Amino acid sequence: MSRPRVFSGIQPTADSFHLGNYLGAVRQWVGMQDEHDAFYCVVDLHAITMGHDPAKLRERTLRSAAQLLAAGLDPERCTLFVQSHVAEHTQLAWILGCLTGFGEASRMTQFKDKTQKQGVESATVGLFTYPVLMAADILLYQTDAVPVGEDQRQHLELSRDLAQRFNSRFGKTFRVPEPFILADTAKIYDLQDPTAKMSKSSSSPTGIIDLLDEPKTSAKRIRSAVTDSGREIIFDRENKPGVSNLLTILSALTERPVPELVDAYAGRGYGDLKRDVADAVVEFAAPYRERTLALLEDPESLDNILARGAERARTVAAETLREVEDRLGF
Ligand code: ADP
Ligand code: NA
Repeated sequence: MSRPRVFSGIQPTADSFHLGNYLGAVRQWVGMQDEHDAFYCVVDLHAITMGHDPAKLRERTLRSAAQLLAAGLDPERCTLFVQSHVAEHTQLAWILGCLTGFGEASRMTQFKDKTQKQGVESATVGLFTYPVLMAADILLYQTDAVPVGEDQRQHLELSRDLAQRFNSRFGKTFRVPEPFILADTAKIYDLQDPTAKMSKSSSSPTGIIDLLDEPKTSAKRIRSAVTDSGREIIFDRENKPGVSNLLTILSALTERPVPELVDAYAGRGYGDLKRDVADAVVEFAAPYRERTLALLEDPESLDNILARGAERARTVAAETLREVEDRLGF
């Protein structure tokens, strides 16, 4: 029996991953390397839908790859590559775009959300067709399962529809991917506004933990996190979002279940909890940062790793595309 194939991507749109990216996505990727045939991709083509700076994109693509390695992805145990290095992604995206209804694409809520403020007039067609490129990413690798957050569920549903549509019109070609929705327990909230998810687009810059920041900066942000009224340390997302978020972070980093932590903090104050969360974050982030910076010192080795990943990805992608083209009469 071959191992189930998984595909997942992350955008190189920030200088550093934040704690939410790691606990909500990257850590799961690391854990799936052995039992799955995993394809992990820095999706740079997805990062240009809203305008970008080329030098920054190049830098952030490398920094993203270095961080994935620093987090524990092993190029011998998974296929790690950069999306734009494998031209088949854009080739298949065009074909799938011709199978996607305009109305169907118009129903994607992320596009609506992202254009809500500025209006659709100034949005790019690339932002509009982003989910079609994502479908190409997934379907090219005959993916069995896609580890994604809840926010990507609708896009994944489109990928499934496109696979089924192609298969029924032109003959069985694509595997239909299953969602593998990552547990909501791994969702990390903003330290200053713990009702909003931690995000690089957060309105309060001190609300996020960037993993490449100086450890003392991160520790300070944890110590300044918003807590809730009252003094009890209990898990209650509704009434104690700040404390609940800190408990979630501590639980994720120490692998101690939340109820066990709640017991351990009975009768103790927020200060103790914050200090322990800060220690746990620094204990993880300091070596992560060191490893990332060391990898970035040697861009040639990094390029080699990514070139090998792209080569391996391309053999799978090219085979799928050949079959697709054959089915379509090219
Ligand atoms: P951002 O929201 O900062 O723009 P992305 O959308 O680029 O982050 O997310 C990259 C990956 O990290 C996705 O798989 C996403 O589900 C995950 N992720 C992002 N923010 C969080 C969070 N606060 N908690 C858990 N997972 C998150
Ligand atoms: Na996002």
